[in-house]
Amino acid sequence: MLAVWCVLALLVPLPLSQSANPGVKVRLTQKGLEYGRQLGMATLQSKLKSIKVPDMSGKVRVKVVGKVEYSVTGVQITNIGLPTSTVGLVPGTGVSLSIRNAYMSLRGRWKVKFCRFLKLSGSIDLAVSGLTITTQIKLQSDKTGRPVVSSVNCVARVGRVKVKFHGRGSWLYNLFRSKIGKVFRKALQKQICPRVDKAVSDMNPRLRTLNVLAKVDRFAEIEYSMVGSPVVAKQSIDFGLKGQFYNIGKHQQPPFAAPPFALPAQNTNMLYMGLSSFTANSAGFVYNNAGVLSIYITDDMIPKKSPIRLTTKTFGALIPEIAKRFPNRPMKILVKTVKAPKITFEPDNMTLQAMVTLTAYVIQTNGTLQPLFVLNVDTSVSGHIYITGAKLAGTVSLNKLSNTLGKSYVGPFQVKSLGNILLLVLKLTVIPQVNVTVQKLCLPTVSLQKGFPLPALGKMNLVNAQLHILKDYMLIGTDVRFTP
Ligand SMILES: *[C@@H]1O[C@H](CO)[C@@H](O)[C@H](O)[C@H]1NC(C)=O
Ligand SMILES: *[C@@H]1O[C@H](CO)[C@@H](O)[C@H](O)[C@H]1NC(C)=O
Ligand SMILES: *[C@@H]1O[C@H](CO)[C@@H](O)[C@H](O)[C@H]1NC(C)=O
Repeated sequence: MLAVWCVLALLVPLPLSQSANPGVKVRLTQKGLEYGRQLGMATLQSKLKSIKVPDMSGKVRVKVVGKVEYSVTGVQITNIGLPTSTVGLVPGTGVSLSIRNAYMSLRGRWKVKFCRFLKLSGSIDLAVSGLTITTQIKLQSDKTGRPVVSSVNCVARVGRVKVKFHGRGSWLYNLFRSKIGKVFRKALQKQICPRVDKAVSDMNPRLRTLNVLAKVDRFAEIEYSMVGSPVVAKQSIDFGLKGQFYNIGKHQQPPFAAPPFALPAQNTNMLYMGLSSFTANSAGFVYNNAGVLSIYITDDMIPKKSPIRLTTKTFGALIPEIAKRFPNRPMKILVKTVKAPKITFEPDNMTLQAMVTLTAYVIQTNGTLQPLFVLNVDTSVSGHIYITGAKLAGTVSLNKLSNTLGKSYVGPFQVKSLGNILLLVLKLTVIPQVNVTVQKLCLPTVSLQKGFPLPALGKMNLVNAQLHILKDYMLIGTDVRFTP
């Protein structure tokens, strides 16, 4: 079960005060629940193994023999099997769990004393069969808005207890065989539900320690708080998470809000995650504020075979002043966002619009950078992103590029004439970088093992992950495998 809740850990909530639209939606399907059941059964099995069977002793009066004192001690569970279990969703409540035909083997010592001084002893085997456990796991949030699970309405029934004595004195066994069976049955029945309840409530300390705010890198952290209570429906459990990036230690609201979006009715994967454009844009807002959305284009970034080099010779052909004042010098271009880039999701198409300044420098012999001109560039880049195997791939293309002159240090010149050459330089250098950045941004969501700061889940690997870009959000459907 822990695994299921670990999957749900993505929801780790904060106080439920804010009621904004979620930036991220997570859906756990029946299939996910089923995987959780498989993992949960192992946990439950070990919890049930810890059942302590009390020693018992008593007296029975037997014809002819008289008073017989008996005791059964040191009974331990040697084997336990939970072969049939099912989980289901209980709309509005949580998860139902039902275990049937479970069995246990137990072994201990027996002793009898009779006729004042006669003693017999040996070992005892108990075979418990037809064990049935049913319960519901209620999913709630506590005062602070964190998820809390509890087991409610647990019922345990022991079907049959078969008792087998080993040792001398078989004629005596039958005298209390059924009595012992009954006592054990009652003792076991009483202890099962508390163990089940404990196995469930033991997940809570884990859930409580999960990070609500996770560090992404030096500049950003992401908030995973829940913006409302989880919704348990017939086919799935849905969680609405804030999914907002913040500058570390500085929680400034961006000038845009999360638009509503709904996950499609799909349930072939264990888990679905919808990442809205709001989440992506909050990242853009944060990185732009941090002033890190900039890049220096240098000549070594341009493929060797390209005839176009980033030199004053190339640019001097268009702006003679450059060739005249700085003959044969290498150049460098700084591209920097002016404001947060805007990301939009349309079916199969992710578009990044950015307003950047482009500052061209000549690198002088002593290493100083002498600015040549500043261009204001309005650009838009589109990406078609998909997952192949376990890798995120995509193609990025430049949709538009319009320049206006910001400032010139080399006299007046025709900006238009620069267009083609800049386009080429950008295509050769910045686009691959955007490509890498887009991948970096998206990769964490599809490759959690790459160190994206999800709350401590153990190791979660994504299997059969698919990614689709839909209107206003990116949908990731995946199965998961936990490795402890
Ligand atoms: C993606 O969307 C942008 C903006 O709407 C558009 O300019 C571009 O042509 C689209 N790209 C593809 C491959 O559809
Ligand atoms: C570097 O060289 C340029 C021109 O040769 C000169 O104007 C500038 O002052 C020099 N800078 C330093 C720090 O020496
Ligand atoms: C973007 O990256 C992918 C994967 O590394 C690559 O296949 C693709 O060609 C790249 N696209 C561009 C335009 O660089």
